[in-house]
Amino acid sequence: MSFAFAIDPDQPKPALFRHLADAARALLDGESDRTANAANLSALIYSTVPDLNWAGFYFYDGSELVVGPFQGLPACVRIPLGKGVCGTAAVQQSTQRVADVEQFPGHIACDSASRSELVVPLVKDGELVGVLDLDSPRLNRFDDEDQAGVEQLARIYLDAIG
Ligand code: SME
Repeated sequence: MSFAFAIDPDQPKPALFRHLADAARALLDGESDRTANAANLSALIYSTVPDLNWAGFYFYDGSELVVGPFQGLPACVRIPLGKGVCGTAAVQQSTQRVADVEQFPGHIACDSASRSELVVPLVKDGELVGVLDLDSPRLNRFDDEDQAGVEQLARIYLDAIG
């Protein structure tokens, strides 16, 4: 198996996310370990999607969100359900796309460089698994194409973990 995923980060977004989805399927193929797959998927996203300062996972431990594999600066470890962008995505089970984190009531600033954020809830068979969180130092970094692309990566992750 090759681990060389040469994806041009400057290509148009639909193509970028198509290639990322192909790479994610290849990377997670035949592996169901949640931690291993989260580690590899965060590395793939962080090294390919432009203008990110954090990309990674929080897992639901039955009472709150606990940080999982990620790329970026060290982050807050525990986030109660309903708190911050991550806890909101988890409790509402809907993607949160925040153009300006300073305008989001209760936003949790793990890295003061973060200006916008995209959080996709991970729900499998009706059960909350956690969230996939991307932060950017650019205001309004994420659009519909980013959201659709990252939601597809989240589905690939959920399919892989069996
Ligand atoms: N900003 C998030 C916290 C997690 S960090 O961004 C890595 C939030 O408000 O939930």
